[in-house]
Formats: sequence, C-alpha cells, structure tokens
Amino acid sequence: MFRLPIVSNSLRVSLKNGNGAIRCLSYTNRLSNEKISQTKQDTSSSSSSSSSSSSSSIPNPNFTHFGSKTVAKDDKEKLVAGVFSSVATKYDLMNDLMSLGIHRLWKDHFINKLDAGKRPNSSEPLNFIDVAGGSGDIAFGLLDHAETKFHDTESTMHIVDINPDMLKEGEKRAMNQNKYFNDPRVQFLVQNGETLDKIESNSKDIYTVSFGIRNFTDIQAGLNTAYRVLKPGGIFYCLEFSKIQNEVVDLGYQQWAKFLPVLGSIVANDYNSYQYLVESIERFPDQETFKSMIEKAGFQSVGYESLTFGVCAIHWGIKV
Ligand SMILES: C[S@@+](CC[C@H](N)C(=O)[O-])C[C@H]1O[C@@H](n2cnc3c(N)ncnc32)[C@H](O)[C@@H]1O
Repeated sequence: MFRLPIVSNSLRVSLKNGNGAIRCLSYTNRLSNEKISQTKQDTSSSSSSSSSSSSSSIPNPNFTHFGSKTVAKDDKEKLVAGVFSSVATKYDLMNDLMSLGIHRLWKDHFINKLDAGKRPNSSEPLNFIDVAGGSGDIAFGLLDHAETKFHDTESTMHIVDINPDMLKEGEKRAMNQNKYFNDPRVQFLVQNGETLDKIESNSKDIYTVSFGIRNFTDIQAGLNTAYRVLKPGGIFYCLEFSKIQNEVVDLGYQQWAKFLPVLGSIVANDYNSYQYLVESIERFPDQETFKSMIEKAGFQSVGYESLTFGVCAIHWGIKV
C-alpha cells in the first residue's frame, strides 16, 4: 500500500496497490466504498465493452463529428460555439424541458456524492476548476455545498468555458443570486477545455465537468489536460450523458429525442441546435469506453455510476 500526497488535509486519498481499491480519508467513505466496489466490478468485467467511440467511424484525422455530420476539425469549435451562443439565454429553461427537470436531481447528486470542501480541521482551502461550466450552476452548487456542510468560505473556483455567452449567463446567475459575483474566490475565464492554456499544471484539487466534455472536438485531449492541471491526489469528476442500459427506457428516450428539436424550435426558435444536442448525446462513448479513455489519460481508481438507467453517468478518477 502506498499513500498519495495530500490534496489537502481535508481531502486525503490513499490508494491500495493491486486491485486499485481506494480509500478516501476524511473525504467521504461513501464515495470511497463505491469506488472500491466499482473498481472490483470493472476489473471483473474486463474491457470487453463494445459500442460507440466518438471517433471510431472517422478515418481521416482532419475530420470529426458534429452531431451526426462529419465536419473539418477546425470548424467544429465554431459550430459548437454557435450552438451554445444560440441556446445561452434559454439554457436553463430548455434544460428543464428537455430533462423534465431531472437534470437538477442529477446535478445535486453529483455535488453531494463528491462531497468536497475544506474540512474544519484543515488549513488548506481547495482549488476547484469547473470546465465547460458557463451556466455556473455546478460551480456555485459546489461552493454552496462546501460552505453549508463544512463552513468552507475559503476554497477557490475557476469557472471556464470556451463560450463567452455561456459565461455571461453564469455571471448573470451570480448577480441575480447576489452571491459569487465580484467574489475574489471565483474567476470566470474563457478557455478551451482541451488545452486550458491559462491554468497551471498541478494546480487544482478538484476538476469537474458537467454535460460539457461531449462537445469537445478532442475528448481525449480534454482528459489529458484534466490530468495535467490536477495536483497529485486531485480528483477528476464528470457528469455526462451516457448509454441507456434498459431497453424500455431506451425506447422511451428515442421517442423523446425525436421530439426535442421540435421543442427547441418552439421554445427557442432553434431546431438545429437542439438537433445537434441530441446527436452529440448519441455519439458520446458508453460508460466502459469513456472509463478506458479516463484511464488512458493516466488516472487511477477510475469508476463510474450510471444514473437513471444510464441516461447519464458520473465518472471519476484520481491523479496519483
Ligand atoms: C450543455 S452546456 C453545460 C453547462 C453546465 N456545465 C451544465 O452542466 O449545465 C455545455 C457547455 O460546454 C461548453 N463547451 C463546449 N466545448 C467546450 C470546450 N472545448 N471547452 C470548454 N467549454 C466547452 C459550451 O460552451 C457550454 O457552455
């Protein structure tokens, strides 16, 4: 057994050798136990998973997917930016309609399960980064959780997004709730999550990304960058749509997905952006494939939890 360096006194992670089971000291036994059982499950299921890979059907490395279309890699960033600029002001409303409000439960679970914050007996605040975090709800939720549960009012947050319009929505949210606006602990930054040029290596304790990474042109580059910016002992934590594992639910979802672009055109006068969102969900790798990509980036004790029959999943990994 070897010990990981301390993320902070409040977030100590130790990693058992062999099967990769982990124990989070002073962090959350619940998360730790799930990781242990997940790792066992993952080990026994080996890597026989099939299903889609985001790049599997594109042989030319200069091209990539934009939803179901094949586009030049250089164009994808602009196309994705167009989608989110278009949906930015209606983002919350559309999320509620599209997920029937369930996205709020998934996000609450994501934040509670991570259970991050500077513990009262610790002297070191945590450095969070929420990538593709434009709307701000995950970032503010994490800070609220840290304050409510651990009286942590010191940990810092970088909210980064490639799209300034989405970041403006986050700032608007901070202003409206009269919290985290002009707060020196919170910084909004326009950055591509694939590179995070302005974020120092080994500088973050917690990296979160929620419903954002499937939009990256190069998802593996995004994961490699997450690894780069995390400190040893830091945690990668991702919420994203995934592969539904129940045939009946999948059938229901397929019908609902056909209707979503129509809903987009009614509510936001924008059929195409919502068509893209549906297609990007279909293109995203399944749970096991994404898990192996996280491992490829160098993370250890990688695991996941499927939510709502696999409609989405939380994936995590530790930088050792
Ligand atoms: C569906 S929204 C998710 C927003 C928020 N995290 C949430 O959970 O509601 C996707 C976000 O990913 C951002 N995004 C897309 N590609 C990105 C990239 N390469 N780097 C950083 N952000 C990106 C978009 O601008 C958009 O704000």
